[in-house]
Amino acid sequence: MSPAGRVRVPNPFKPSAGSTPPVLVGRGQVLEDFRDALEDGPGAPGRLQFVTGARGVGKTVLLTKMGSIARDRKWVVLDETATSGMIDRLARAARRERIAAGVEDPTEIVGRTYGLPGGWQAGATFAPPPQDPFELRQELTRLLGAPLLQGAGVMITVDEIHTIGSDELDQLAAVVQHLIRDEAEIVLVMAGIPQAVDQMIADNAQRPRVSTFLRRAERLDLGAVDVDLVQEAFEMTVADFERSWAPEVAQTCAEATGGYPFMIQLVGYHVWRIGREGTITADHAAQGIAVARRKIGNLVHAPALQDLSDVDRTILVAMCQDEGPSSPGAIAARIGRATNYLAVYRRRLESAGMVQVGDDGRWRFATPELRQYLRDHAAHLALNN
Ligand SMILES: Nc1ncnc2c1ncn2[C@@H]1O[C@H](COP(=O)(O)OP(=O)(O)OP(=O)(O)O)[C@@H](O)[C@H]1O
Ligand SMILES: [Mg+2]
Repeated sequence: MSPAGRVRVPNPFKPSAGSTPPVLVGRGQVLEDFRDALEDGPGAPGRLQFVTGARGVGKTVLLTKMGSIARDRKWVVLDETATSGMIDRLARAARRERIAAGVEDPTEIVGRTYGLPGGWQAGATFAPPPQDPFELRQELTRLLGAPLLQGAGVMITVDEIHTIGSDELDQLAAVVQHLIRDEAEIVLVMAGIPQAVDQMIADNAQRPRVSTFLRRAERLDLGAVDVDLVQEAFEMTVADFERSWAPEVAQTCAEATGGYPFMIQLVGYHVWRIGREGTITADHAAQGIAVARRKIGNLVHAPALQDLSDVDRTILVAMCQDEGPSSPGAIAARIGRATNYLAVYRRRLESAGMVQVGDDGRWRFATPELRQYLRDHAAHLALNN
């Protein structure tokens, strides 16, 4: 209870990886397309897809939301992360779901009857041992055949797909391709950061089956969301929890996020927290935004930079010396190379969601506050070179 006797409302914002936000901003169309893919039946392109995007852009929470849409339609959803042992875990989960759906293991009864003197008989029946290791394709086929699933299907989500080992990728590709060919009601959505997914596709280019599978998957590249939608979501969330703020304050906060999903939660959380209760003022907003800017570095930029190569990082550090967009000539000069040396790094940094190159050919940071973060940490980052 607050001094005024009101109950303090829990903070609705969720600034942590994978936590479902109070409002999933700007993903309406993507979810609409996903609903269509479920309804369009086997063969719909959205039934096999990659969700890619920079760290903190909302891949994991999108997988969760897609899963809940499928569950609402009575689909069975199996959520996995691509760490070692995934195929086995999927097979076990499929088996559990099938048994929960009322379809038991097929039992082969092994019976022996012995004749005894005097016309008596004795019999022994042995139950088969539990099947182990379970075979994913067989388990999915059985689950898909469960009567309870009629009209619905099985959705598999695999987060951090780039961490998958090549054996398990082979198996996943083989099983899913097979089920798709059989027109089974199967959906597979895989998520990962773009440059890692590109790398995985490149690494498998010489393996026909896997490479066909990877190339077939539709690519959904997530980016920042519209700042006006962020403002709307801020206003809605605060009103739902019986607090208020002037539209200009909500707008200032929305602009500070740059439409970047992780930042939406960080700004919301800290602004809410500083105000504690009642009306959120411009002063609360300014303080909350400042805290959010400090936090985003360690939560998002540090892991994103870890995923890059030393040269990638050196280029970013060279860019952060500018106040605005950087010209390729200046970047090249700072790292002591010719401009054409940058081409390959441009593609990598763009696909990692770190850099955007405008029509004017100048390079910009794609996530908010990255410039300041790099300036603050440049010494440490450049140390590796
Ligand atoms: N559309 C959205 N609207 C509002 N907040 C969002 C949205 N998408 C994600 N978020 C919030 O952003 C944060 C990061 O989301 P999430 O963990 O899904 O990102 P990610 O892309 O999976 O990141 P990583 O690559 O680090 O795994 C979470 O706090 C989540 O609540
Ligand atoms: Mg994630």
